Amino acid sequence: MASPSPEQIIETQRQDWNRVAGGWEKWDRFFDEQMAFLNHRLVADARLRSGMRVLDLGSGTGYPALLAAQTVGPSGNVTGIDLAEQMLEAARRKATALKLSNITFKTGDVTTLPFEAASFDAITTRFCLMFLPEIPKAVAEIARILKPDTWVAAAVWSAPDKNPYLKIPIDVIKQFVELPSPDPAAPGIFRLAKPGELAGLFEQAGLNNISDQEFLGDVRFKATDDYFSSLMDIAAPIQNLWGKLSPAQKAEAKQRIIHTAEQYRMGSIVALPIAVRMVAAQKPG
Ligand SMILES: C[S@@+](CC[C@H](N)C(=O)[O-])C[C@H]1O[C@@H](n2cnc3c(N)ncnc32)[C@H](O)[C@@H]1O
Repeated sequence: MASPSPEQIIETQRQDWNRVAGGWEKWDRFFDEQMAFLNHRLVADARLRSGMRVLDLGSGTGYPALLAAQTVGPSGNVTGIDLAEQMLEAARRKATALKLSNITFKTGDVTTLPFEAASFDAITTRFCLMFLPEIPKAVAEIARILKPDTWVAAAVWSAPDKNPYLKIPIDVIKQFVELPSPDPAAPGIFRLAKPGELAGLFEQAGLNNISDQEFLGDVRFKATDDYFSSLMDIAAPIQNLWGKLSPAQKAEAKQRIIHTAEQYRMGSIVALPIAVRMVAAQKPG
């Protein structure tokens, strides 16, 4: 079967993330609390300060764009860009609830950014770049629109073995259906997991002072049932795999996922490990 074109991949991404937007809104408070440390790390790596003009790529329901807007304050501003209008609708509702008037969310593809060269003081992006069909093109755009001496900070998922939070359901689904062995160049959750991969692209695009670090954490649940339901509600790529199972297989697979997750119980909580690759780079002066 021919590989999908970049346009087809982008259209599928748009549909996938629009489909799970309701799930993101439902679990928003939980994931906001659980993943806040990543937003703070991105804001630090991008060296955000009051008054800056910031771009956030693939903002979804507003992470880390909303924290960036709070950080740059009323004298600065943040633009969040994403394919999925329904994810952005949720982000806008949150910006309003937070009384943030210095943030705008625009629908668009981050590989073709509608901004002038050297027009932003910083770029942030969390869990987006690995889903792009043409990552080098997006990185070239990042290098183009940053002002000299400013920073980009990106978070992408690290290796599956260090991410039981995501790997458990994928492994269980594989026990029921044969999944084609993943094309290492195809967009997907772990596409930028390898150390040096995104850093190398930043280097090729002419960026300097590159750091590439793995950040270890966990997502903590009171009930493994919540782990299962929340992940299925928000993780579009895993939801797609889940859709390949019959109802009977789903019932059995859910039990196996919950059983495996219980192995990470620490007293009253279940702490599912995550590993996130944090890559930052500076545009030369
Ligand atoms: C896992 S979500 C992450 C959202 C948010 N940054 C966060 O960390 O919560 C991935 C987001 O990337 C967006 N996305 C994927 N490909 C994109 C593209 N080519 N251009 C813009 N956004 C894209 C999706 O629509 C989705 O909202």
